[in-house]
Amino acid sequence: MKIAFCCTGTEPAPWLAGLRAALPQAQVELWQAGASPADYAVVWAPPQQFFDEQRQLKAVFAIGAGVDALLKLRLPSSASFVRLDDAGMAVQMAEYVCHAVIRHFREFDVYAADISQGHWTVHPSQHRADFPVGVMGLGVLGQRVAQALTHFEFPVNGWSRTPKQLDGVRGFHGGDQLDAFLAASRILVNLLPLTAETLGIMNRTTLSRLHPGGYVINVARGAHLVDDDLLALLDSGHLAGATLDVFRTEPLPPAHPFWHHPKITMTPHTSARTLRETSIAQMVGKIAALERGERIAGIVDTSRGY
Ligand code: NAP
Ligand code: GLV
Repeated sequence: MKIAFCCTGTEPAPWLAGLRAALPQAQVELWQAGASPADYAVVWAPPQQFFDEQRQLKAVFAIGAGVDALLKLRLPSSASFVRLDDAGMAVQMAEYVCHAVIRHFREFDVYAADISQGHWTVHPSQHRADFPVGVMGLGVLGQRVAQALTHFEFPVNGWSRTPKQLDGVRGFHGGDQLDAFLAASRILVNLLPLTAETLGIMNRTTLSRLHPGGYVINVARGAHLVDDDLLALLDSGHLAGATLDVFRTEPLPPAHPFWHHPKITMTPHTSARTLRETSIAQMVGKIAALERGERIAGIVDTSRGY
């Protein structure tokens, strides 16, 4: 069995060592132009040339959960495309989103500013019932996030393409129920995949439907958000703030207004990192299952886009 590794922006040596240790019977190679055909591939942002040359792949494993960039390429029809299925990301996403929600709800930034000015000021308590959180996308990550938020007793709404029943989460689904979902939410968490249907889904119209004093947490993809619409709603006061981990262009260009906006908190696409060892273990388990002719979880529906 031959495995080609082609991950742009990733130091290959520890991945190659990990894959070779886990699959001693396989030939694991860093892909180079003109390489012989492989059976499986491990990829992130590969060049089009990779798929133009590797036409016999049985399966392609992305080392992330989102496959929007991969699906823009011309792909070999022989292969299945497999995304990371949690692999340690869900708990990271839950801690990131809960942190952002609680930081906003408990006004930790307000207290930090007070303390930095030498002010000992106790502000009136806010009521959890006034901060319903809406989670857009109830997949591997969104479900974990929604459930984590219920442990802090926030009212939680969830929106997905197909109906979902999750303990403590009020479910909405489909385009017809998007407005009702937004109108029931004050804090909006985005965990949708980026597809033709979800591109620009957080815009002036949709964000205006959140409760006054709404708050946006975008941890999925930058192109879900219309940047100027967010800025306009922050400046009008309809939105109280935003925590953003993902951006249309990454790294965020130095002149972008998000950098210095007083109501925006940013991190550099770090909310749920790929954990190498856990990811290798997951991919190796799936390769073994495929070799036995078994079905595996995490296969991307390329027509649906996720
Ligand atoms: P997933 O398991 O594929 O779940 C996607 C969810 O979105 C599903 O609940 C799906 O509904 C829903 N959905 C898709 N299209 C929809 C539509 N048109 N309308 C309503 N709901 C729709 O994905 P995941 O593993 O949770 O990951 C979500 C995204 O997070 C990834 O695609 C990636 O972009 C992002 N991500 C970001 C980071 C980071 O560090 N910032 C890390 C990992 C992932 P159904 O359940 O009905 O199919
Ligand atoms: C990261 O953004 C991922 O999709 O895994």
